[in-house]
Amino acid sequence: MNRLDGTVAIVTGAGGGIGRGIVRRYVSEGAKVVAADIDQKLLGRLDEEFGADIVTVQANVAQAQANRRLVETALAEFGRLDVFCANAGIYDQNVALADLDFEALDRGFDELFAVNVKSVLFAARAAYDALVESKGSLIVTASFASFSSSGGGALYTASKHAVVGLIKQLAYEFAPDIRVNGVAPGIAPTTLKGLNALGQQPKDSVLQGTERAVPLQAIPESDAYGGLYALLASRRDAGHITGSVFNADSGLAIRGMSKPGGRAR
Ligand SMILES: NC(=O)c1ccc[n+]([C@@H]2O[C@H](COP(=O)([O-])OP(=O)(O)OC[C@H]3O[C@@H](n4cnc5c(N)ncnc54)[C@H](O)[C@@H]3O)[C@@H](O)[C@H]2O)c1
Repeated sequence: MNRLDGTVAIVTGAGGGIGRGIVRRYVSEGAKVVAADIDQKLLGRLDEEFGADIVTVQANVAQAQANRRLVETALAEFGRLDVFCANAGIYDQNVALADLDFEALDRGFDELFAVNVKSVLFAARAAYDALVESKGSLIVTASFASFSSSGGGALYTASKHAVVGLIKQLAYEFAPDIRVNGVAPGIAPTTLKGLNALGQQPKDSVLQGTERAVPLQAIPESDAYGGLYALLASRRDAGHITGSVFNADSGLAIRGMSKPGGRAR
């Protein structure tokens, strides 16, 4: 018996690095998955890899209707919904506030908050009835930037701090029927999309030399995060956990001043 046998999950941003790792882990643990992304080409690769265990849907999570369509697809294709994993996100490429004029700030805020924050509200609202029915859970991708400065610029940091507030508030509002938790990755070797409003092109998430700055002295593969999402999806393993955000930052938050880790060379 696999841990997620009988579980039906929606994963957004499923075509990207961390999302694909979540889908991979969910399917390997027995789940059926509705995999959503705005990028049709990435979804095509998912179809090739996972076949009948998943259904792919092109969707812009910043739109309410797209989130409703994802829930409808889960119910129509697999008959239930146990987990909505709101993982899609975009990045501000660490842009400093002082480098943004007011117009760029205005448009950048709207674009980034629509994808990183409003989408979580839409996901939660769209999935509410189905998750109450299944006693399911909402899992949101937070970030190192949910707790610290400099994991992004002011826009990204504010959006990921907001995500933590939503996890707490929704965990409270939805208890005892729906659990709401988050995973806060530190660094993953992905190519996060930048802001169209600022003319940013996708860029590698990992800066050169980052592995030497973290206590564990290594950058995890994107797939490494899937295990935490599987744990949180499992009623057996996480039926008692709600309102929590799990830091998976390779020790970044406890980095020392003299050297990153006590035994690091
Ligand atoms: N890579 C890191 O170091 C890192 C660290 C902390 C948190 N995160 C978070 O992890 C999550 C996944 O990012 P990733 O690193 O795998 O990057 P990624 O760019 O590889 O994956 C994100 C996916 O979301 C999709 N997406 C973007 N906008 C969308 C929209 N409007 N609707 C639907 N899909 C959309 C993209 O096409 C992409 O496939 C994000 O929430 C990100 O903020 C990443």
